[in-house]
Amino acid sequence: MKRFLVLTLVLVIFLSSCRVVESDLSADDTQKETESEVIEETTGSETITETDSESVTDMESESEEDTTVIEGDYEIEKIELDKYEVSIKAGETDMPMVTMYPDDASNKGEIWESSDESVATVNHYGKITGVKAGECIVTVTSEDNPSVKAEVKVTVSGEASLTYVNGILIANKTYSLPESYSPGIDRTAEAALNKMISAAKDDGIHLFIKSGFRSYGTQKTLYNNYVARDGVDAADRYSARPGHSEHQTGLAFDLNSLDQSFGETKEGKWLAEHCHEYGFIIRYPKDKEEVTGYMYEPWHVRYLGEDVAKDVYESGKCLEEYLGITSEYEN
Ligand code: DAL
Ligand code: ZN
Repeated sequence: MKRFLVLTLVLVIFLSSCRVVESDLSADDTQKETESEVIEETTGSETITETDSESVTDMESESEEDTTVIEGDYEIEKIELDKYEVSIKAGETDMPMVTMYPDDASNKGEIWESSDESVATVNHYGKITGVKAGECIVTVTSEDNPSVKAEVKVTVSGEASLTYVNGILIANKTYSLPESYSPGIDRTAEAALNKMISAAKDDGIHLFIKSGFRSYGTQKTLYNNYVARDGVDAADRYSARPGHSEHQTGLAFDLNSLDQSFGETKEGKWLAEHCHEYGFIIRYPKDKEEVTGYMYEPWHVRYLGEDVAKDVYESGKCLEEYLGITSEYEN
């Protein structure tokens, strides 16, 4: 009996100790679950997504506010070009494409300059034209932030084939353009022409373009047709041989009527009196055939820019006299 009591006691102690272990394990598990819930709450996707989406919404509305308040009022920080080296022949053109950053900057104006205009010129839009063999640097500068620039190394090969006198491209009987020179209408000249047409309209004068840029090939066809009709001597008085027409420069326009009586019309008179205000001159004035090489053409205007055109107009000279150059075929 005494042994039975001892055994029972031992059994009771054992069972009770087992319960303690069990209870300890349960406590551990509970703690782990609780920890895990806490972690989920902290890093669980739902919670975070909510928090984040709120943040994003806040940021978006903040940035929308920013955009509304100072839209496009950013300074240019960087200029990228699609090419930093250009190799062309004299008379040929090339035009690097510009990207300005940031994209939403308000002023993306470009200022183009050539380090040596006797080698290559560049216009307001970045069109580079080879003048004679050599090397130079063409630079584009941000109008908005002049400390931001990009440079193009320009290499021009081949013989000199465009003639600039005082920065003015010359096409006359003495100075020709290469067959490959095909720049199209000069955009600056075109803008000036549109401005003039609009100003004329305000004065009740209707001006319109009859002819603008003409390629070497087009001029060749025209000239040959005139020669076939009137003979060389007569044709040479009013039509340029291929490579010698100012229309191939993209800087000349024929307006309204190709008849000398146009000079006596109110449109022709308005043009003669005002075209210099928009950067043009009447290129073949009356009584200057001996110098220009061409008969009077009251309809043909040549773009020179406002300053030079005004100067030529006020001088009363034709362009050849003004620059001191000739206009004569070799044969
Ligand atoms: N009529 C002018 C001279 C030309 O043919 O270019
Ligand atoms: Zn013309």
